[in-house]
Amino acid sequence: MRYLPDGRQMKAADGYTIREKKMPSLILMERAARTFVETVCETDADLSDVCVVCGSGNNGGDGFAIARLLLERGAGVSACMVGNPDHCTEETKRQIQLFREAGGTIEEGFTERKCSLLIDAIFGAGLSRRVEGHYLECIQAMNRSEGKKVAVDVPSGVSTSTGEVVTDAFRAELTVSFQCEKLGCVLYPGKEFAGEVKVTDIGVDVSEMPGDRDVAYALEQEDAAKMLPKRREDSHKGTYGKVLIIAGSKGMAGAAYLGALAAYKTGAGLVQIYTSEDNRAVLQTLLPEAIVRCYDFFDERELLQLLKWADVVSIGSGLGTSDKSRRILQATLENVEVPCVVDADGLNLLSAHSRYMKNLVRGQFIFTPHMKEMSRITRKSVEELRNSRMEILKQFAGEYDVTCVLKDARTCIFSPGEHPFVNLSGNAAMAKAGSGDVLAGVITGLLAQKMSCFDAAVLGVYLHGLAGDEAKREKGSYSVLARDLAENIGTVLKRLEE
Ligand code: ACO
Repeated sequence: MRYLPDGRQMKAADGYTIREKKMPSLILMERAARTFVETVCETDADLSDVCVVCGSGNNGGDGFAIARLLLERGAGVSACMVGNPDHCTEETKRQIQLFREAGGTIEEGFTERKCSLLIDAIFGAGLSRRVEGHYLECIQAMNRSEGKKVAVDVPSGVSTSTGEVVTDAFRAELTVSFQCEKLGCVLYPGKEFAGEVKVTDIGVDVSEMPGDRDVAYALEQEDAAKMLPKRREDSHKGTYGKVLIIAGSKGMAGAAYLGALAAYKTGAGLVQIYTSEDNRAVLQTLLPEAIVRCYDFFDERELLQLLKWADVVSIGSGLGTSDKSRRILQATLENVEVPCVVDADGLNLLSAHSRYMKNLVRGQFIFTPHMKEMSRITRKSVEELRNSRMEILKQFAGEYDVTCVLKDARTCIFSPGEHPFVNLSGNAAMAKAGSGDVLAGVITGLLAQKMSCFDAAVLGVYLHGLAGDEAKREKGSYSVLARDLAENIGTVLKRLEE
């Protein structure tokens, strides 16, 4: 599991290492500077004319240490101080002194220039407000300057907790982050400003991080492999769950097909689709393995029987928002006694009829909204969601006791009492109609194999992204279709199984 702390959480780990592990702060700074220089030198950077731009905080202290180590390597180095010298931390004052003793000189301020390597050490984990005035001018002059651009820990101007760039930020080709990649460098737009991120080990003790429930995690391949539900030799289709997919109104057979296909490809034992009569023929042709039932003459007793039959339910993909769809959703939410994924039109109907939210059985639902759907359901703007997703989702998931999968370029998963998860697999080729239907199917397929709501959501999102990466490898960035994702679920599961 990879930690993705924000600035506050990382500084807490720094502080713990300094206090409890008796690691002098200057040693930590020295290690940060040394690993930074080594990493940059491995990229064959041209050291003939290096400019290091420093603030007055400890990120600036790292910068002056870097400038000194580069001087010792024979590089041509100029250092610029853009922070207020009267506000320098003790560590930064010491680094300035050491740099001067090594023969370095310090310019005040920064103006646009040509150099071979431009290093940003203005703000790191300590950015605490919008960047404006003199700092904004410096960052923009740095962005206009010529030379390879590298950021120390976090590009100046990127929020470490949201990835937000309020005014502007340093546009790095490479960011060397210490100990952990920061949350703001994986979320957009921060990720774009960070460029390639290389993480170096400077010996910060992160063992206390799991104690802070707000620290975000990301799944890695070996975690996913360990989480896969086991398949026993003495098993049958009933062992791997009966799935009910309530999806697809007239003309939306694809949503039902993709969800059902993905659930089967993820390992579910038996899939039944409850859909419009118009979809029957196409679904039975495309997926003869699925049972198809139709809701056109909606009979609530029939739906209740299906809900009793199912081990897991998924509702909403392509369901439409007609009154009949609303009645189906209401009956499902009121009667379902097994884990239930609510997707797409299920969520749109819920936002129009928020009273249904009040009686949800606690801990049993997974919501899979994209930003617009989440905006409707929480009554927050997409912009607010982007900039405060962690707080808003934490509050929402806690209030209704649901697992919430917020789909975006970086999908985030929240469940009460769990660490937030940020998914790092996947790519822009997956931005196509039907991709969400496949995700709902994958999560449903994992729930059918008795995973908890939270684990199924975290693993499902990761597998869906990996299937997208596989599909992109085969078909490139433009031509991947949602069905390729469903097909590739098999490929990635096979690889993880090996
Ligand atoms: N505009 C103007 N000033 C700002 C803005 C803004 N938008 N945002 C923040 N600041 C100011 C802060 O107020 C603060 O200044 P102040 O101390 O005068 O209030 C300063 O910028 C803090 O900026 P940073 O240098 O980013 O923060 P910090 O001093 O916490 O250092 C750190 C960050 C710890 C260096 C981090 O990037 C890191 O982990 N580096 C690697 C390890 C390391 O070197 N650790 C330091 C050991 S020393 C120690 O921890 C005590």
